Amino acid sequence: MNRDQLLRHGYSVHALRREARKRLPRMFFDMVDGAAGDEITVRRNESDIAALEVVLKVLSGAPTRDQSVMILGHRLPSPVIIGPTGLAGLLWPNAELCAARAAHRFGTIYTTSHASTSTIEEIGAATPGPKWMQVFLYTDRGLTAEFIARAQRAGYAGLVLTVDNQVMAVRDRDARNGLMFPMKLRTRGLIDLVSHPGWLLRMRKAPNPTFVNYDKFTSIGAFGPVMQKLLDPGVTWKDVEWVRSLWKGPMILKGILHPDEAHRAQSLGVDAVVVSNHGGRQYDSAISGIRALAPIVDAVGDRTVVLVDGGFRRGADVVKALALGAKAVLIGRPQLWGVACAGEEGVHWVLEMFHREIDRAMALGSWDDIRQIDRSIFANSSPWT
Ligand SMILES: Cc1cc2nc3c(=O)[nH]c(=O)nc-3n(C[C@H](O)[C@H](O)[C@H](O)COP(=O)(O)O)c2cc1C
Repeated sequence: MNRDQLLRHGYSVHALRREARKRLPRMFFDMVDGAAGDEITVRRNESDIAALEVVLKVLSGAPTRDQSVMILGHRLPSPVIIGPTGLAGLLWPNAELCAARAAHRFGTIYTTSHASTSTIEEIGAATPGPKWMQVFLYTDRGLTAEFIARAQRAGYAGLVLTVDNQVMAVRDRDARNGLMFPMKLRTRGLIDLVSHPGWLLRMRKAPNPTFVNYDKFTSIGAFGPVMQKLLDPGVTWKDVEWVRSLWKGPMILKGILHPDEAHRAQSLGVDAVVVSNHGGRQYDSAISGIRALAPIVDAVGDRTVVLVDGGFRRGADVVKALALGAKAVLIGRPQLWGVACAGEEGVHWVLEMFHREIDRAMALGSWDDIRQIDRSIFANSSPWT
């Protein structure tokens, strides 16, 4: 898909998702689109954002608008950051390098997943733009320390410690499609792959994507059981403290939903939290990111940067998060749909689309500076209370 085709077909992030569905083998589309259990939380992420009603004041006039934000020392053109997503290399050759380049061109932060299919070092060197590195806590803390040291050497600007993924979730769509780990490709799976010749042809450029950051994985198929053995379900605040002491630079804790935990993170010197339920991919029935947001902002005040993710598909969605006190939003699936359709161009297009839609929302709401947006925009100034 070139830029012209993108503009023709992809008039919104939702439209891009539909395009990605056509282009990707079903098992990989579902791997991105799906979530844990009955997918209650993933639906809730979007429906809770949609449920918020905005009451506009339209006559303050905003002929020019500034949506740029400062996040942990970096000025971003838009309050949208690319969140960590593993396995992207199954969607497009060298997908992480494409997305990192797109983020750099646009001017935002790219977050490398622990499960990237290009190495921490390759992505680090791909652009001079700011990047964050996402890590987990392993039973072998030495492995976590090694990831952190590699990120530090590769010049990453921030460290994201994800704490809601210490147990591998069961995602029903993956089970149905035979994408259970270890991978069990049935005839249906093979037919799925060969009936997407465009994808097959493209993937010849970077065949057999794998988890290159780990020595132990020789193939994607080995991922599930090996990963589960590596992850430590017994992590505590002591571990957060330990990671804080290792990482020289801004530290971001991802997967926080409770205000008490956000407060505790603050007291340990964590610089930012991502209010997140992992895109509904971990604890099904967890509260949505948007709904968990305001109590966390109230708990930490201005001393901790509060970010949020889960279900942000439109500029107007981002405006709602900012109104509730987030400084920026992370996007997961939208950038994966972008990369699946058109590689670097696709991700860049997604970032531009958010920028355009936020700008239009600001014009309609008469906000010339994004910092003017606060809870007073809601019909009920404390939604959900
Ligand atoms: C395919 C996929 C892979 C993901 N991999 C990771 C990961 O490796 N580390 C992580 O912290 N979060 C991971 N996430 C969660 C995202 O960072 C983010 O929290 C979530 O996707 C946000 O919701 P959204 O997809 O609705 O934007 C992944 C999400 C998806 C869809």
